[in-house]
This record gives sequence, C-alpha cells and structure tokens, in this order.
Amino acid sequence: MDNRPIGFLDSGVGGLTVVRELMRQLPHEEIVYIGDSARAPYGPRPAEQIREFTWQLVNFLLTKDVKMIVIACNTATAVVWEEIKEQLEIPVLGVVLPGSSAAIKSTSSGKIGVIGTPMTVKSDIYRQKIVDLAPQMQVTSLACPRFAPLVESNQMASSIAKKVVYESLAPLVGKVDTLILGCTHYPLLRGIIQNVMGPSVKLIDSGAETIRDVSVLLNYFQLNRSRDVSISQHRFYTTAGVATFKEIAENWLGQDLNVEHVKL
Ligand code: DGL
Repeated sequence: MDNRPIGFLDSGVGGLTVVRELMRQLPHEEIVYIGDSARAPYGPRPAEQIREFTWQLVNFLLTKDVKMIVIACNTATAVVWEEIKEQLEIPVLGVVLPGSSAAIKSTSSGKIGVIGTPMTVKSDIYRQKIVDLAPQMQVTSLACPRFAPLVESNQMASSIAKKVVYESLAPLVGKVDTLILGCTHYPLLRGIIQNVMGPSVKLIDSGAETIRDVSVLLNYFQLNRSRDVSISQHRFYTTAGVATFKEIAENWLGQDLNVEHVKL
C-alpha cells in the first residue's frame, strides 16, 4: 500500500483527459495535476525547450511527494520520457506506448492513422513503436497544430472548431480504420473528430489506454492506495489564470475542483 498521490503533467488542460480515466478506472487514487497553460502549446516548440519545461513540471510534482508520475502529454513523452524514467526512482509512465498497442489490437486493415502535435509527428515515435511491435502495419501521421490552442481557449464546441477539424483531417478520411488521438488535448474534440472520420473509424485515446498500465504497475509494485484512507482533495495547479482552467476542468471532470495558480 502507498497512500501518496499520483502526479500528472501536461502542457495545459489536455492531461485532464487522462485524469478522467483515472477517476473512472481507479477512483481510490488521489491526484496532483500540473498544467503549463501559460506556455502551451508545447507542440511547435523546439525539443530542448520542451525538455526544460517538462523537467520543471516533474520537479514541481516531486515537491508534492507523488508515488508515480504520468506524463500525460504525448509531446513531452516523445521528447523526454526515457530520460525522466531513467533518472527518477518512482515509476514514470508516458502515453505513447499504450496507445500504440491499443491501435494494433483495434485495426483490421492494418492502416493506422496518428494525429498529434508537430513535435510528436516529427519525432515519428508512434510509427516507430507500432512498426517495432507489428512490422506489417501501415502508419500515416498527421500534425494538427490548430487543435490544442482551440482546446486551451475553451472553444471545443464552436463552429471554428468544426471547420478546423474538418479541414485538418481531410487527408486521412477514408484512408485508415483506426485513428490514434496522439495528443491528450484531442479527446476534448472527440465528437467532431468522429463525425469527420466517420462512424466506422475506431478512435484510440492514448491517455485512457495509459490508465490500464497505471493500474498494472500499481498492482505489481503494491502501490495501491488503501481503501480505508479517504482522499482529502485532488489538487490541480495551472501556470496560467485559474478561471479558464477551472471551467474546462470542472466541465470535463464533472465535479468542483481545487485549482491553484503556480509560478514555476
Ligand atoms: N497535450 C499535449 C500532447 O499530448 C500537447 C499539446 C501542446 O501543448 O501542443 O501532445
């Protein structure tokens, strides 16, 4: 048993899609979350900067005495997960590997699409992981740089969002039977993405898949939180203004949240 919280980080609100799955699949676990909305999006930034920012978020979480860290950001996972995992003594999970395995399991045509930020697509990490596991797969990757800013500005339900998603995904329509949402912001646009891709395309939520791995690791290392210790309160931190973060987070997670501003 380990009653310490699990730490989550993201460039902004995207990691909340991973947190929602944690709350659903592992409701006894306590959460500390940090979103770097003041500096989002990370996707178009140079690798060295993403590395520096991600380490700042990790170090912040370590001050909260977390028992495990989930890098709930594909971009940060692509750039710096291996390095962080090697340097910390607690388990550190990224979101890319679980999404890759789930896509291989889901596809029947072998044609898998991946959408992500410019850095995630440039890193080629999804294609490499998928082909490493199953060389017969054909992977088509597409950067969607306009999606994360739409989500960060809480415009998910707007007509602009529909137009942007429609225009951005055009090259993939009819070409794949499985699409990996390779950015944790994208499940917040899931309805529109599904409409554009068509009902037969299976969408893989990389973050949701990750929680299955969190569960396995907690069991394996016997790190589950005791059922007898009640959760005092989940804690959410943002580097930007509290109001927008709180609105998006409370809508998405369906509960009142304790959100604080933090300066890194
Ligand atoms: N949510 C992040 C991801 O999964 C990054 C979005 C961004 O900041 O560009 O890649």
